[in-house]
Amino acid sequence: MRLLSGVCGLVMAAAIAAPAIAQQRDEDVIAYRQEIMKTMGAQSTMIGMVLAGMVPDKLLSTHFEVLLQSIRQAKSAFEPNVPGGNALPVVWAKHDDFIAKLNAAEQSIIKAIEISKKDGAGGQSGEAAVDALSCKGCHDVYKKP
Ligand code: HEC
Repeated sequence: MRLLSGVCGLVMAAAIAAPAIAQQRDEDVIAYRQEIMKTMGAQSTMIGMVLAGMVPDKLLSTHFEVLLQSIRQAKSAFEPNVPGGNALPVVWAKHDDFIAKLNAAEQSIIKAIEISKKDGAGGQSGEAAVDALSCKGCHDVYKKP
């Protein structure tokens, strides 16, 4: 409840604030991209639960769809050169490679959406999910352990 009213307060404050903040605070830039990553973490957990048969597979493709939007959001959210949080400076030193990894993830997730719509939690969905959830390949290079 406290979190909810905090978030609502933030939205209200933003609504009455002066238009488009010209100067962004580093801590907000970092918090924003971390929230996007947390969304990806939550979707990955749910995908795992569906594939393990713990919950019905009706929503499987929608989890990949949310993941797809998050990956796209990450491309913008990591644009400002703001090292900190758990992001290593190499994110910006090798930004082309960093973005290439996000692009590759995007393509794998698009495939996983198609396959999971067809196969549900069975068929090729497991393999497609492994490809789509190649998070570690980036974290190993670009994120503090
Ligand atoms: C192209 C690189 C890249 C890919 C792909 C990627 N991440 Fe991340 N992730 C990062 C970086 C960099 C950080 C550190 C961000 C920060 O602290 O500023 C991070 C942080 C995180 C965090 C911690 C967020 C927090 O601070 O609480 C989670 C959870 C996470 N990622 C989940 C995922 C999942 C799940 C996937 C795959 C579906 C994924 N990431 C794919 C680069 C990536």
